[in-house]
Parts: sequence; structure tokens; C-alpha cells
Amino acid sequence: MTYRVAIMGGDGIGPEVVAEGLKVIAAAGVELDTVSYDLGGERYLRDGVVLTDEIVAEWSELDAIYAGAVGSPGVPPGVIERGLLLRMRFELDLYINLRPFKFPGNADRDGHDFVVIRENTEGTYAGEGGFLRKNTADEIATQGSVNTRHGVERAVRYAFDLAMSRRKHVTLVHKTNVLTFSGDLWERTFNEVAVDYPEVTTAYNHVDAACIYFVDDPQRYDVLVTDNLFGDILTDLGGAVSGGIGLAPTANLNPDGVSMFEPVHGSAPDIVGTGKANPIAAVLSGAMMLDHLGEDAAADRIRKACSDPESLSGSTSEIGDAIVARL
Ligand code: IPM
Ligand code: MN
Repeated sequence: MTYRVAIMGGDGIGPEVVAEGLKVIAAAGVELDTVSYDLGGERYLRDGVVLTDEIVAEWSELDAIYAGAVGSPGVPPGVIERGLLLRMRFELDLYINLRPFKFPGNADRDGHDFVVIRENTEGTYAGEGGFLRKNTADEIATQGSVNTRHGVERAVRYAFDLAMSRRKHVTLVHKTNVLTFSGDLWERTFNEVAVDYPEVTTAYNHVDAACIYFVDDPQRYDVLVTDNLFGDILTDLGGAVSGGIGLAPTANLNPDGVSMFEPVHGSAPDIVGTGKANPIAAVLSGAMMLDHLGEDAAADRIRKACSDPESLSGSTSEIGDAIVARL
């Protein structure tokens, strides 16, 4: 079986790490029929194109999208983030942002294994808001948070379903003590969905407290579910406490459509071309793509080959080669 996959290396170290991911996928025996898309900050600086309707339509016909990282110095904030990444998430309805964190070690001390389910299409990312009296002394800027019952419920249900295949524990992370409207919707939805999963135990943490537990006691977590912005921030912290952001993969999932796979990290323009970029996050994102394509055995082999990341050292391509050798 050959899968049709869009490749979007992007900017900075993006193309370098994606090349290693593709090398590893091929070595694991999975054949991809790839279509490359030159998009990101550099493309925008060259001809002003961020993303087109035609490209979105092409993507929706493919089996998956595999991406590196986007963002270039010199591009104003928001152009690529909103115009490319968020547009992709919204138009392809990639409503689950799944970020697993695993740290091998002493099971009751530093070892941990948890997954953050970040709602990926709503919250403060929705773009609600605007300016009044811009550039005056009386300027007002608002940035609302959009939370729909539908959007919250599908993220929460996904988290409970996932927990059923793991340690059967789900933690809701929010800030219900201050965000009394959106927090209330999240909490009620979470409690109602929980009734359908009597075997799953639940917990609730305020997001600030969750930050402490990520550092001090991550073993308490199995699956976490949270809002878009909280999830963005928490998952950088998740990477930092799990061996570094260079190891953290992402799946942006539409369980009924095309999905997109990328590292949590950014384009790191400061280290482009130095060989210092760690390709493991991109390789593990590739493994998540293989899971999604139904190539579970190859995905597991790749994860196994990356399971002691401290022993994988060298340049970007040397690490890729070492993973291939272990396959
Ligand atoms: C991420 C990134 C993006 C986000 C940015 C680049 C739009 O930080 O995927 O975590 O905020 O979601
Ligand atoms: Mn982020």
C-alpha cells in the first residue's frame, strides 16, 4: 500500500528534520507517494503567498500531511501562524492536537508517560476580537475566547476514548476559578461525558497548578484534556520536562479526514544548517502519522528505535542514520 502524503518542510530547520523523518519512514518499509509544498515564511517573503484555496482542496484529498516547522525572521507576527497553520487547522477541522510525552526512568520518580489532548480549533485562537480607537491613548484591544459545546465535547470524548486504551485516567485542565463562563462549559461537558465512561477515573487541575505537577509529579497524569491556549503553553512545558522540545511530536487530527503531523518545536533559524537540530521530534511525528495510516507495526518499530534518545547523538543526519541502523 502506498500513501499519498503532502510534505511541507517549511522554514529554518524544518526541511532538515523532515528529511530525516522521511528517511526513517522509508527504512521502516512504508512507501509514501509524496507531494511537496513550498510554504512558510520564506515563501511569503518571496512572493506573498501564504496558502491558497487550491492547496487546501488538494490536501483534503490526500492521506496525510507531514510538516517540519514554519516561521522566518522578518515576517510580521501572525501572518504565517494564522494564515497557514491555523487556517490549516480550521479548514481541515484538525480539532484534536495530540501531544504525547514520555520520559524513560525510574517509574516512581522521573519516569512518566502522559498525553495532552489540546482542543485545536477554538478558544482564543479562533480570532474573535478587534481594536477600538487603535493608535490613540484610549485604544482598546479585545481577544475573545470561543468555546462551543460541540468543540469542547468532541475534544473531551476523544480524551476519554484514548484513556480507555491506556491507564483509564483523564484530567481536565482549565482555570474554572477565574474563567467562570468558558470554564463552566468545559467542566459541565467533562462531567457529563465522564458518565459514559464509568471505568475511567477523573481529576481536575487548574492550569497554574498543572504547571507545578508537570515539573514535580508528572506521574499523576495519563491523559489530559484542555483548551487551545492552555494546551499550547502546557505542551512546551511537557517537552521541557520530557527530555526537551527536540523530542516532542504532534498529531493534528481530524479523525474523519486528513490529518497533519509535525514536531512541537519551531523553525529555529539560529541553528539552520549547523546540523544541531534534533530530528527525533520529526521522526516521532512521522511514527504518529504511520499510526494514523494504520501502519502500527512500523510506527512501533520507529518509536522503539528512538526509545533511549540520550544514546542518539551527533548531527541531524547522523541521528537519522542511527535510528535507521536500529530499525
Ligand atoms: C504550536 C505552535 C503554534 C500554536 C503557533 C506556531 C501558531 O506554537 O503548534 O504549538 O500556537 O499552536
Ligand atoms: Mn506552541
